[in-house]
Amino acid sequence: VATGPGELPPPALTVRHAGGSCPVYIGRGLLARLPDFARVHLAGRRLAIISDDRVARAVPVPLDAPRFTFPAGEASKTRATWAALTDDLLGQGFGRDSAIIAVGGGVTGDLAGFVAATCHRGIPVLQVPTTLLAMLDAAVGGKTGVDTPAGKNLVGAFHQPAGVVMDPAVLATLPAEQLRGGLAEAVKHAALADAGHFRWLQEHAALLLAADSETVEALLRHSVPIKVGVVEADETESGPRAILNAGHTVAHALERVTQYRLPHGPAVAIGLVTEAVAGERLHLTAPGTATALSDLLRLFELPTRVPPAIEADALLEAMRADKKNRAGAIHLALLSRIGETHGQRSGEWTTPVEENVLLEAIAGNREA
Ligand SMILES: NC(=O)c1ccc[n+]([C@@H]2O[C@H](COP(=O)([O-])OP(=O)(O)OC[C@H]3O[C@@H](n4cnc5c(N)ncnc54)[C@H](O)[C@@H]3O)[C@@H](O)[C@H]2O)c1
Ligand SMILES: [Zn+2]
Repeated sequence: VATGPGELPPPALTVRHAGGSCPVYIGRGLLARLPDFARVHLAGRRLAIISDDRVARAVPVPLDAPRFTFPAGEASKTRATWAALTDDLLGQGFGRDSAIIAVGGGVTGDLAGFVAATCHRGIPVLQVPTTLLAMLDAAVGGKTGVDTPAGKNLVGAFHQPAGVVMDPAVLATLPAEQLRGGLAEAVKHAALADAGHFRWLQEHAALLLAADSETVEALLRHSVPIKVGVVEADETESGPRAILNAGHTVAHALERVTQYRLPHGPAVAIGLVTEAVAGERLHLTAPGTATALSDLLRLFELPTRVPPAIEADALLEAMRADKKNRAGAIHLALLSRIGETHGQRSGEWTTPVEENVLLEAIAGNREA
């Protein structure tokens, strides 16, 4: 669609939520249009940009506004960083008429979103995700917050962004490991909802691994609506949103037992396959699903099997702490096959799985 100077392209999709709606723009070169997005979606407001220090170096923002930074990394996603950013903003006189532009990965989006949710009891935030993971997952849905010593994301708020701007060209500077991690979430989205998109991922694996911006744009246009569709159906995460946890019960346990040395993306890759093995053993997941997942994940150079150093008992112990558990039983968000969840079929979004089945699935999906 051709657009004149200052005129915005149409959003790729619009997220409807309890408080209104949020346009999501997807396109190469959109970062250069940030002044226009701010003029339209944060009209008349005093702007503050929040980024981690690495993103501040890697991703220049063509906007005349101060940029507040913090040290890159999950270790910064704390109340201390939230307080420091908030104090900096208030100290510089940012009032109720201000707005925040979060430019960065999921850590930046969650932190800056939480600052926006709480500062003056809530000011608008424009999310500008710069990692594939943040584009596919963190930037859309309105969850914001910080980690605490007791666990990840335990303090936060729902705060829907005024808009989301995704420019796949910014991924050119993203480390390859971060890109692969995001691709694990793309595999999850396709596996949940769209077998055709799953095949498309197989056919375009090489271009995606090279962060080819045209192919990444096509990926986002397919994959982001899958998450949005689920979030719209269940904004506060009471039911169907649980299917986005496919692979994540095992993934979170893997992250915990490795003290987060195994990053989220590879953990999700191993989790998707291990949970599919469990689903196949229960005859709830079609035979061959785990193999199809691991074949695709391997094309993206992701691990698919539980590393030998990780003990099954420790993994199970970590799974017992999962927030989806009910009545003392570990619950998984299972697939029925590639492109469909068990929940879509049964109305039960998560399934209790006996611990001996989980142990068999872990043993059956071990690195040799
Ligand atoms: N709110 C949600 O719904 C939601 C969903 C999923 C994940 N999350 C959160 O997201 C976080 C993980 O996000 P992440 O993986 O994006 O981590 P991140 O924000 O730490 O980014 C990863 C690394 O990449 C760097 N980086 C980011 N963009 C870059 C670019 N374009 N070029 C060069 N370097 C760049 C960052 O500086 C950082 O070092 C976790 O804290 C997780 O809890 C939130
Ligand atoms: Zn995830």
